[in-house]
Amino acid sequence: MKRMANSLKATVCMVFLLFVSASISVAQTVKGSKKISPDLFGLFFEDINYSADGGLYAELLQNRSFEYSPTERKEWHPLSFWEYISPGYSYGKISVETTSPVHPNNPHYTVLTIEHVGNEVGYVGDAGVGIKNLGYEGIVVRAGEKYDLSLFARQLSASPISLKISLETTAGKKLAETNFSTSSGEWKKYTASLTASENYDSAQLVILGTSKGEIAMDVISLFPQKTFKNRPNGLRPDLAQLLADMNPKFIRFPGGCLVHGSGLGNMYRWKNTIGPIEQRVAQKNLWGYHQTAGLGYYEYFQFCEDIGAKPLPVVPAAVSCQNSGGTWRIGGTGQRALPMEEMQDYIQEVLDLIEWANGPVTSAWGAKRAEAGHPAPFNLQYLGIGNEEKITPEFEARFKMIYDAVKSKHPEIILIGTSGPFHSGEDFEKGWTIANKLEVPVVDEHYYVQPEWLIGNHYRYDKYNRDSSQVYLGEYASWGNKLRNAIAEAAFMTGLERNGDIVKMASYAPLLAKDKFTQWRTDMIFFNNVTAVPTPNYYVQKLFSVHQGDTYFSNVITRDTKDSSLAASCVQDSKTGDIILKLVNYSKDTKTMKVNLSKFKKINTAAEKTVLTGNGDDENTLSKTDKTIPSTGAFTVSKTFDYPAPPMSFTVIRIKTKP
Ligand code: AHR
Repeated sequence: MKRMANSLKATVCMVFLLFVSASISVAQTVKGSKKISPDLFGLFFEDINYSADGGLYAELLQNRSFEYSPTERKEWHPLSFWEYISPGYSYGKISVETTSPVHPNNPHYTVLTIEHVGNEVGYVGDAGVGIKNLGYEGIVVRAGEKYDLSLFARQLSASPISLKISLETTAGKKLAETNFSTSSGEWKKYTASLTASENYDSAQLVILGTSKGEIAMDVISLFPQKTFKNRPNGLRPDLAQLLADMNPKFIRFPGGCLVHGSGLGNMYRWKNTIGPIEQRVAQKNLWGYHQTAGLGYYEYFQFCEDIGAKPLPVVPAAVSCQNSGGTWRIGGTGQRALPMEEMQDYIQEVLDLIEWANGPVTSAWGAKRAEAGHPAPFNLQYLGIGNEEKITPEFEARFKMIYDAVKSKHPEIILIGTSGPFHSGEDFEKGWTIANKLEVPVVDEHYYVQPEWLIGNHYRYDKYNRDSSQVYLGEYASWGNKLRNAIAEAAFMTGLERNGDIVKMASYAPLLAKDKFTQWRTDMIFFNNVTAVPTPNYYVQKLFSVHQGDTYFSNVITRDTKDSSLAASCVQDSKTGDIILKLVNYSKDTKTMKVNLSKFKKINTAAEKTVLTGNGDDENTLSKTDKTIPSTGAFTVSKTFDYPAPPMSFTVIRIKTKP
């Protein structure tokens, strides 16, 4: 590959860069330093493994809009995860209709006909005709907490319908209840708040019509009032907090393969995901489930802002996934391209996204952002085009059209190209060739590999040509969530820091995975409805991100460079002045590395040390979430010292240079 073959040129260039950056960096008096990307470590979020619906998105009801369909799973239909109920010898009917829906984007709704409400002799309990929602394997409620219920109803009979709505245990014990009557023959939104009387992990929402008549209902939603930062239509706080705790510098969204979709009709179109939830376009999630788009572009940008991360949206490159319809079985021949006559409209859609994010409230799309509750711009700086597509002539032509149009109208946006799903090979080469030809500022690379590959390729980016595009390592992981996987990733990440002048950004993938609903087995955080399990890989990512610097120093840590199990890096954070050492030992023995801080004028000897170590096979599970977690404590340093790195360990030593 031209890029790799240029390694001599790259090395010369790197030496030059080191020299130049050393002479202009903040740490001007310190030799052997270079500026590195301040946005190096961030997150990649994709709705895979029930990460959004049933996961980070705090909606508690499943199939709230009656849009589940057999195209998503052959056994699914509009009443999936709802049960028809008629307690008290009552009887009636239920159907799913599409005439005059709440919104054309949301075509299905349910109609209940309450023919008889049984108050038979000897019957005690609620009587009526209704439905109950089972949530995502139950609804978690906590005593004293409030839950916001909303639903759209249209009264189809002359007289009002009385509704009794409750949260109940599986045995029918009431945990919360509210009552109201319909008051309109048109679609109307009704809201109520339910306060749970006790803790229960698998509640159901019961909606009972208790007077005779007919009623249409749709978009039945239940949210905990306590979402992350109490945002309406918000995020599950424990999961969101775990992400916020990582201090990510950016978040890539919405994927992943979800971006380009399984077939052209399944591409992720950002405009379908904003506005009131009843107007959003739900669709099949290509990972085999249903995507409400409830966690859409607005919620994503808001979350980025809430945790101080830069948004990095990725738009489809106007082609679908090469594996559309499962064609990976025959070699990924499923890529389809948007017809050329649709390209101008599509390009406008991409430009509109930039206006929606950054435009003034007086612009057409900026006004929509303001209407949604955010008049100030979101300060979008990055935009990805495409996700690891097969690099075909169809792809290249469309990528170029989108790239040229955005570059010409918005030169301020840093555009990110793509280079296939592997670390090398045909698509990788072709992707980089396009990037070099068009001078794409940043190229997205993806690879999922064995831990040994990461150890063996620790020097990958040392060889990259500093004259061409920068790298965004948008998806990477070693296959597995054991400690050894995480430690191999840590070793590789010291290489990312060392090359932080050319590697602009990096994000582990995938991020979240719901227990029993997982399509991709190596993930950063596992969870069920109640518990979240950060993996050792999470802690490595978090330690790198929380202890990120913006200047890299060579020759501070000396190790046996022939011993591939050892890796290390040293950075400084210009805001705090802190020096941060990262030391990795991917072996079964304690190994010593030497630290020499004499190039720094002042250091505070009272430092802080965080160590993640254990048995290579250790992992965290739902029943033991903290088997492998880092421990932090005080550590005394001097200008020179030896550090015995424990077996299978990752250590971060943070040293203050200011009082
Ligand atoms: O991270 C899981 C998947 O891996 C992503 O959707 C895709 O981009 C890659 O193949």
